Amino acid sequence: MKEQIAKIKAEALAAFEGTQAAADLDALRVKYLGKKGELTGLLKQMGSLSAEERPQMGQLVNEVKASLEAAIEAQGKKLEAAALEHRLKREAVDVTIPGNTPALGHKHPMYLALDEIKDIFIGMGFTVLDGPEIELAELNFDRLNAEEGHPSRDWSDTFYFDEDSRVMLRSQTSPMQVRAMDTMELPIRIIAPGRVYRKDEVDATHSPMFHQVEGMVIDKNVTMADLKGTLNTLAEQLFGKGTVTRFRPHHFPFTEPSCEMDVQCHKCGGVGCPTCKGEGWIEILGAGMIHPRVLEMAGIDPEKWSGWAFGMGLERTAMGRFKISDLRLIFENDVRFLEQF
Ligand code: DAH
Repeated sequence: MKEQIAKIKAEALAAFEGTQAAADLDALRVKYLGKKGELTGLLKQMGSLSAEERPQMGQLVNEVKASLEAAIEAQGKKLEAAALEHRLKREAVDVTIPGNTPALGHKHPMYLALDEIKDIFIGMGFTVLDGPEIELAELNFDRLNAEEGHPSRDWSDTFYFDEDSRVMLRSQTSPMQVRAMDTMELPIRIIAPGRVYRKDEVDATHSPMFHQVEGMVIDKNVTMADLKGTLNTLAEQLFGKGTVTRFRPHHFPFTEPSCEMDVQCHKCGGVGCPTCKGEGWIEILGAGMIHPRVLEMAGIDPEKWSGWAFGMGLERTAMGRFKISDLRLIFENDVRFLEQF
């Protein structure tokens, strides 16, 4: 029996030492010291021993039991320490590793150009207005002297919301002129940037949604010279000193006289290239002296007051400002393009 005890002890100690996890150690405790464990089994066999042997063996078993318990405790501590060390290693933060820089976006080039345009006009005493994209045909057309039957009112050109063609997606920012005249005190100096919508197919120069910046001045003794002076100042500040502009006669229902302003092509310098379609010039806005009837409809006396207005294509202006050759680049949102600004 003595040998048996010694054998169990040696076996148990070796097994304890070999454990890697607390759960394994616990299983071994049950195996050797549990109620049905090997050592307990020996105690049960003591009945077969002689009266002298019994206390000796009892003592021996108890000693072995104590030393196994001590070994389990020691191994348990060792495992705990190892687990802690492992966890600390795994969770360690190396504060010297460079961090991940978050990728920050930035403004779209068209809005960069718009910011510059706003700054230029604010510097000249203009107020910036914002207005609805869903507009009444009354403001988009009637109040701007574009009567029933005007081609731009056609269903093939304009997005209407109703059968009666009364509510629409604005086709121009010009209704902001009417909104300003209806709500502001004279004299008025405003610009109004925003989206406009027309039933156009997408190509290199067209999109069913694009942006305009409307501008309007109403004051006493305002003339075409003020219009030209202001818009030439805009062109020089936006595109650089010495920028060449050209004013051509045109027709708009809400201005008389009317004109369009071209800027010499930024790509070819006026020689003619694909960007300006061989013209050497790029049209960026329509303008004119506000038609007396438009002033009258707003309750403004055209004998006392006069005004000028313009409507500028923002995409085209941004293309000129940043020398972009294709309108589609503005809308495609390819980051390789956008990152260049
Ligand atoms: N609304 C015109 C368009 O979309 C542009 C325009 C022309 C605006 C003359 C004006 C203006 O204010 O006076 O084509």
